Amino acid sequence: MKTIGLIGAGHIGSQLARLAVSHGYRVVVSNSRGPETLKELVAELGPNAQAGSVDEAARAGDIVVVTIPLKNINSVPAAPLAGKIVIDTNNYYPQRDGHIAELDNESTTTSELLQRHLPKSKVVKAFNHIYAAALTTDGQPAGTKNRRALVIAGDDPSAKQAVAQLIDEFGFDTVDAGPLKEGWRIQRDTPGYGPRRTAEELRKDLQSARRYAEMSAHKA
Ligand SMILES: NC(=O)c1ccc[n+]([C@@H]2O[C@H](COP(=O)([O-])OP(=O)(O)OC[C@H]3O[C@@H](n4cnc5c(N)ncnc54)[C@H](OP(=O)(O)O)[C@@H]3O)[C@@H](O)[C@H]2O)c1
Repeated sequence: MKTIGLIGAGHIGSQLARLAVSHGYRVVVSNSRGPETLKELVAELGPNAQAGSVDEAARAGDIVVVTIPLKNINSVPAAPLAGKIVIDTNNYYPQRDGHIAELDNESTTTSELLQRHLPKSKVVKAFNHIYAAALTTDGQPAGTKNRRALVIAGDDPSAKQAVAQLIDEFGFDTVDAGPLKEGWRIQRDTPGYGPRRTAEELRKDLQSARRYAEMSAHKA
């Protein structure tokens, strides 16, 4: 049985943990306050779930999800994640995260920041544009007509393939946006960010996405 480690057990982390256990994975959940604060969630998730420290979740996971406020990504431990697939769900909200100059000037993207912090991990951007609640309501079996699709981006093709397979098990098609640097195409305020989209619709959304600078120039 494979284990998914979760760093962050809030809206998205707890939902991904629910999906994982319901699809036959073991999970180790963690947060900033410590495992004793996750008793209720673990009880709900059942025997294949346990709570641990961030380090323990990172060590335990065959795949590890980082799903915390972006401003905290530099606290994620790099050593236990070396060589592993790390799913990054994070988005940039300056009012929550403070201003990050490289994101404000669009010289990098959120997932490239995590990849830079975890240079030996294989970071795959995923689950960043679906509302947490929809994760457990919108999934459908493979082959369902008009199945909802989710975007992935990443620099390691085999890691992307593994994450696409996980997403398929969880009930969604995937659309590959390309390398991490293309992840901006599904960032906050882009057409694909939030609404339910099929793969075909999402591909169009990625194509029509515009940089913040271009959007604000257009508005002015
Ligand atoms: N909510 C959504 O619908 C949604 C959808 C897609 C993507 N996202 C993105 O996914 C990320 C998580 O969102 P969320 O809504 O799940 O956030 P959330 O409900 O606020 O939960 C954040 C989780 O991260 C934990 N955390 C914070 N700092 C940490 C640290 N340094 N180390 C370990 N754990 C830490 C928190 O633990 P404590 O409670 O113990 O502090 C909490 O479990 C964000 O970047 C968000 O923008 C959210």
